[in-house]
Amino acid sequence: MIPYGKQDINQNDIDAVIDVLKSNFLTQGPQVPRFEDIVKNYCGSKYAVAVNSATSALHIACLSLDLGKDDILWTSPISFVASSNAALYCGASVDFVDIDFNTNNISISELKKKLAYAEKEGLLPKVIIPVHMGGFSCDMEEIYKLSKQYNFKIIEDASHAIGGKYKNKPVGSCEYSDITVFSFHPVKIITSGEGGMALTNDKNLSMKMEILRTHGITRNKSHMSFKDEGDWYYEQIDLGLNYRMTEMQAALGYSQMNRIDDFVLKRNEHAIFYHKQLSKLNILLPATDPLIYSSYHLFIIKLSKPNPAKRRIIFDYMKKNNIGVNVHYIPIHLQPFYKKLNFKKGDFVTAEKYYDSALSIPLFSHIDQTSLEKVSNVLSSALELANKELL
Ligand SMILES: Cc1ncc(COP(=O)(O)O)c(C=O)c1O
Repeated sequence: MIPYGKQDINQNDIDAVIDVLKSNFLTQGPQVPRFEDIVKNYCGSKYAVAVNSATSALHIACLSLDLGKDDILWTSPISFVASSNAALYCGASVDFVDIDFNTNNISISELKKKLAYAEKEGLLPKVIIPVHMGGFSCDMEEIYKLSKQYNFKIIEDASHAIGGKYKNKPVGSCEYSDITVFSFHPVKIITSGEGGMALTNDKNLSMKMEILRTHGITRNKSHMSFKDEGDWYYEQIDLGLNYRMTEMQAALGYSQMNRIDDFVLKRNEHAIFYHKQLSKLNILLPATDPLIYSSYHLFIIKLSKPNPAKRRIIFDYMKKNNIGVNVHYIPIHLQPFYKKLNFKKGDFVTAEKYYDSALSIPLFSHIDQTSLEKVSNVLSSALELANKELL
């Protein structure tokens, strides 16, 4: 089976993890700050807080922005459920902004309309989480301008997008956001096994997230009420969690950062091949934009007309031929859990149209040429078969 995504681990990565296993620290040692430094320097942000997943990073990012009961968070319905669950963990409520069918990201025109309406109704969001689908950055400058007009905070869910650029700046620079979150799950651009990171240029937010990732505990004397009890002394000053990243994870992540540009370049080269090879088929390919350098976490194709029956035939045929296709994502508002929160079919029609058309085909840095050709050929046969069956 050619998987839709896969980690790229070399001997240096393995050695880095083994070295940690032989060292004095398996957690809370020097590797985590070292990993944080390399990521924040790469992205050009001032602060970075490593945690055990992007889900955890989204949670503490929301908490650090004081999202709570009576607050509203908006995000894209076409994302992994973690993007919206973060708000619910904080006791806030969630709403979605429909997507742009061309970019698969939050629609700027829908966002403008929804903000204008919400202002009249007194229902403006405190936080918006734009999601960079598949590695393509959202139009962050536009969202940032709206955040100034309507007074909301921005957390970029860049789980797919480390190594990508927006207007020539690395995703993660936080130029147009308060916080940016990355995921290091194995199918992502770089991996630490499980892992995530929250980047920010705001010292206060970074301090809050550092404390929240470790039970709400601080050893920083300037934050304590009692300061001179002895070296053992710490204080719990907030209700935090244990979201710490281990030293093994951080060492693997650090080692992977040495190859990030190569990973993203290769993904882009493979994407160019797919663009050339698949352009003759009657499908929509990812929309490129000169202002965006995608990290190409995913290569998402769409049927020229939404047709779930046709997508199902193509999906099943490709799976039968050992091609690990996938669908990213089932609209969050259609999940049974979210339906219990009163969302229903028809609420976000473009997201639903997207869902009835989309298919992710295999893309990872070390996929070989034979596999790329096989995926293209099998996809072509799958389309032919689907057209015949649905005549
Ligand atoms: C857009 C998005 N946000 C958040 C997450 C959660 O990431 P993690 O698995 O690191 O918690 C994912 C994971 O797939 C994701 O795709």
